[in-house]
Parts: sequence; C-alpha cells; structure tokens
Amino acid sequence: MLALTLIKSYDEYLFNHSVNVTVLCIALGQALGLNAETIREMGTGALLHDIGKVNWPETLYQKPRGLSDEEWALVQRHPLDGAGIVEKMGSVSATAMEVILDHHLGFNRKGYPIVDPDKDPGFFGMIAQVADAYDAITTSRVYQNAFEPSNAIARLQSLAGTVFDPKLIEVFVRMVGIYPVGSLVRLSTGELALVVKANPTDSSRPFVRLLFDRTGRRLAEERDLDLTERDAGTGEFRRAIIMAVDPASKNFDVGKYLQERGEAAGSPSPG
Ligand SMILES: [Fe+2]
Ligand SMILES: [Fe+2]
Repeated sequence: MLALTLIKSYDEYLFNHSVNVTVLCIALGQALGLNAETIREMGTGALLHDIGKVNWPETLYQKPRGLSDEEWALVQRHPLDGAGIVEKMGSVSATAMEVILDHHLGFNRKGYPIVDPDKDPGFFGMIAQVADAYDAITTSRVYQNAFEPSNAIARLQSLAGTVFDPKLIEVFVRMVGIYPVGSLVRLSTGELALVVKANPTDSSRPFVRLLFDRTGRRLAEERDLDLTERDAGTGEFRRAIIMAVDPASKNFDVGKYLQERGEAAGSPSPG
C-alpha cells in the first residue's frame, strides 16, 4: 500500500486512475464470481498496475501521441518496469503480478509487452485491461475529451474479440449497463433523466432520475424511476431510453450534480 504514495505524489491523475481501476476490477471480479482472496490479490495488482510510470518524464505523461521511438519504448516498458518495482517489495501474489504485466497485452496479443509470443494473456490481466480502458476513456485529459459512459461502453463492445476478451466485455456491460451510472439519457416520453443505478437483469433498463421535462425545463422536483415499470392497462413499458445525451449540451455537470448530493465519492478529477 505504501507504494501508492509514490503514485500520488507523482501525478494526481495516476492516483485517481489507479483507485478507479481497482474499484472496477473488484466489481468485475465479484460479477464473475471469483473468490474473495483472488479479488483481493487482483485489487492489489490494480492499485499498482501503472506504478511502472513513476519514472516517466512529465512531458511524456502529457502526450500519448506523436511519441519518439525512445518515448514509445518507455511506454511499452511500464508493465515490466512496474513488475520490477513490485518484485522488490516482495510478498506480491502471482495474480497481482499478472495484472501489472498483462494489462496492456490484449486479447489478440497485439498490445505490449510481448515477453513470450506463445503465451496467452492472463485472465487477471484481461480483467484489468477492461477496467483500465474504461476508466481511461471516461476521464478528460490534456489530450482527450472524456467519452460519455454510454459511448465508452459502445467503444469497448466494438473492440470485443480483438483487443478485449468478449466474455469479459459481456459481463462488464451487464454489470455497468449499456447506459452506465452518470449517463444523461433521453426517454421515449421526451424527458431527460440521469442513470443512477444499473439493473443487472436488464442492462438497457436502469434506474433513472427524471431531471428535465419534455420541453427541456429543469424539474423542480426530481423523481426516481424504474424503467422496467409497465403500464397497468396496456402492459407496455411506461418509458424506454432512446439515446444518450451529452450533458454539456444541456449545461448539466454530472460530476458536480453527484458531488453535491454526496453520490460521487472518489470520482476522477479531470487532468
Ligand atoms: Fe498501464
Ligand atoms: Fe492504467
């Protein structure tokens, strides 16, 4: 755990990212039905998965594109460097090591580092890869605008079977939903709502909070809805999600909204 202080003093983003990836890994591990000990070991690996970046020059950290050969070599080395750092600490499990070493290897082994071309990427490394990618693309950085959660899910799905293990993506999507918590969505009624809770039995029908009426007016009284609710007369669903909406287009700051209501402990800070 002390190694975490290394990450924090180096870069605030890296610290937040490490914690977020850990949360996602633990949740995915639970959704997969892994045992508590394995989940704990995987979580330790996730906390330290990017520790190999601590020796990067700051300039490299701010620009992941247009890298020189030398810089690219450094990027590709961070799983190995991280494993080296953690090895010296001793008493780190093989599961945690696999998370650190394989979190960029990829289902199709087109990632890095390729240590042994015949070795399949480890299961725990694949889990961490999904968590890592999801957190990375849903966070704003100097060089990228954050994906809206539902766009991020679509992106992960589009890479299932190549970059990502398709079975893990399936479980991940079932876990967070097609419209993850924090997505602003337009409903079939024309109203706008915020997704507040996933529905594990139907990922397209999460629990939502009504925020805007059909004319686009902010509701004075917010109301929580279960989208699996049906009309008693017709038996039809009362509401469905039509599409995700960019909160910025509604001048709505999801992070601020959740923070004000104390519902976003540890949400990543941009930059
Ligand atoms: Fe990494
Ligand atoms: Fe990472």
